[in-house]
Amino acid sequence: MTAPEYLSELFSLRGRTAVVTGGSSGIGRAIALALGRAGAAVVVLARREAELAATVAELEGHGCRAAAVSADLSARDAVRRAADQAAEPFGEPDILVNSAGINLRPPLPELGEDVWDATMAVNLDAPYLLGQRFGPGMAARGFGRIIHVSSQQAFRAFVDSGAYGVSKAGLTALARSQAEAWSPHGVTCNTLVPGFVMTPLNRRLSSDPERVAALAARTMTGRNGLPGDFAGAAVFLASDASAYVTGQALFVDGGLSSH
Ligand SMILES: NC(=O)c1ccc[n+]([C@@H]2O[C@H](COP(=O)([O-])OP(=O)(O)OC[C@H]3O[C@@H](n4cnc5c(N)ncnc54)[C@H](OP(=O)(O)O)[C@@H]3O)[C@@H](O)[C@H]2O)c1
Repeated sequence: MTAPEYLSELFSLRGRTAVVTGGSSGIGRAIALALGRAGAAVVVLARREAELAATVAELEGHGCRAAAVSADLSARDAVRRAADQAAEPFGEPDILVNSAGINLRPPLPELGEDVWDATMAVNLDAPYLLGQRFGPGMAARGFGRIIHVSSQQAFRAFVDSGAYGVSKAGLTALARSQAEAWSPHGVTCNTLVPGFVMTPLNRRLSSDPERVAALAARTMTGRNGLPGDFAGAAVFLASDASAYVTGQALFVDGGLSSH
């Protein structure tokens, strides 16, 4: 077996179908591109149509099969409808990536029920509902990969973690519960844990050069994260190579969490 054949056996996603929420921006977009370039047919799911179309065009430019579903994941009925729509272009997914997320950051004493509910709806309820929709089918077919994009704030407070950190801690536990339920049937369920990544989500912090430099200094690599840093880890967790990795949190944070 040649080296490319061996790498392909471990990591190729050819013949797989992936649904990536938040696949139109930042980390989700980088993951969608990585999964597509590794061979998967990819459906990206978010609200803004122009951003979705640009991601599909980029995937197609790489010769990938790609489609988009525009939907708001903050309402349960809309999530259910979006899940059905996401299974239309290429069939039921083998890989589900939950990257859509919001971080509203009011200090906890000022955090009202509206922010709490909005945060939980997108960051935790939608991943739960999508897991319930796609997990059983993955288990019945004997292969599946569920990857949640969590946060260092699942494990510690950081710049008004508020409801956001709670939602991400919930995702960590959700991955464990899903792993317990479905891993006996070939479905692995894990989280990717970013540190501080330069994306639109962090526009306020990332436009302050002093804060950016201070955060970079807290890592071991000396820089903040970029969306492309998640490509390799996502392909690994989506591939056959990670068949014995489940219920885990994989920190992709330049060493921030261990510094
Ligand atoms: N950047 C960081 O430092 C960092 C650190 C830790 C964890 N994370 C996590 O990484 C994930 C991706 O964030 P990012 O940094 O890549 O941010 P981003 O570039 O702002 O991407 C967020 C994505 O979520 C989608 N989204 C937001 N609300 C939605 C809704 N109601 N319905 C459907 N889609 C929705 C957005 O698309 P639309 O707006 O078009 O809907 C967009 O595609 C998030 O879960 C975030 O919590 C990020």
